[in-house]
Amino acid sequence: MGFDIEGYLTRNKELVDGKLLELLPKAAGAKTRLQESMLYSIEAGGKRLRPVLAIAAGEAVGGGVELTLPVACAVEMVHTYSLIHDDLPAMDDDSLRRGLPTNHSVYGEAVAILAGDALLTEAFIVITEFGVKSGLTSSQAAAIVGDIARATGSRGMVGGQALDLALEGADTGVEEVEEMHIMKTAALIEAAVVSGGRAGGADEKQIESMRKYARALGLAFQIIDDVLDIEGGSEIGKERGADARKKKATYPAAAGLEGAKRRAAQLTDEAVECLRGFDERALPLREIACYLGGRKY
Ligand code: IPE
Ligand code: IPE
Ligand code: MG
Ligand code: MG
Ligand code: MG
Repeated sequence: MGFDIEGYLTRNKELVDGKLLELLPKAAGAKTRLQESMLYSIEAGGKRLRPVLAIAAGEAVGGGVELTLPVACAVEMVHTYSLIHDDLPAMDDDSLRRGLPTNHSVYGEAVAILAGDALLTEAFIVITEFGVKSGLTSSQAAAIVGDIARATGSRGMVGGQALDLALEGADTGVEEVEEMHIMKTAALIEAAVVSGGRAGGADEKQIESMRKYARALGLAFQIIDDVLDIEGGSEIGKERGADARKKKATYPAAAGLEGAKRRAAQLTDEAVECLRGFDERALPLREIACYLGGRKY
């Protein structure tokens, strides 16, 4: 029988969901509106792709989930912060996320901004406190904090988001779109994989291969996200056509819908190719890439 990728994704998503709820102030006990708002976006769910990638990267080098779960949860908290801010009126001005009204539509802009800030900040506590308690060495924790911070700062995700806003309405070529996509989306996906690998005990050569894998996969992921904004169904959990409404620089706008799909397929193959030096423990990483290549939401 082949590898059960859907079972693998579901099992690990449940693990991450459970741990996230332990790490965040409990729903019933949430004392403040700020904490309620953080929990709202975390509990809304999502695919939990980045944390599952972190776990799979750890597994690829024989690292157990107890070591990778804190890193996985931290990355998901950073990702959720990025979505809350991405939806704000000053940015993409969206009303639907993960199938629910966006955070600011429910809690107001000020609380939504602060919920994002708090999720980002507290992600680093999860690594340095919970991670170290779970068995990460201090030097692993420091390296992982560095990976995530570098990936999400002005040379990574936030820089990419700034570029995304600056390019609204512009006639943008494929190369520039790829540069933006690598920054705004692939960088955090890369950090998820690299930091999961690091927590699992990967050596520098393995980290380098994982980095290349994740960059290709992350770029493909954002290209497919652009495609889904045009062709996706209600399962995407967000408003379709939002990119065209905001005149976003997207891959389909630069290369056409078919060009975008071709590029995503090519990048998926490239990602899998980067794993050739790993043994069968990297099967989940390989299968995730193939699964995402064909994703519908
Ligand atoms: C959405 O990410 C933002 C992008 C970088 C394309 P996901 O598609 O992973 O969103 P969730 O986490 O499943 O909601
Ligand atoms: C999101 O890109 C990138 C980040 C959140 C960093 P999009 O703006 O395309 O994501 P969606 O489509 O709103 O999820
Ligand atoms: Mg955006
Ligand atoms: Mg958006
Ligand atoms: Mg999008």
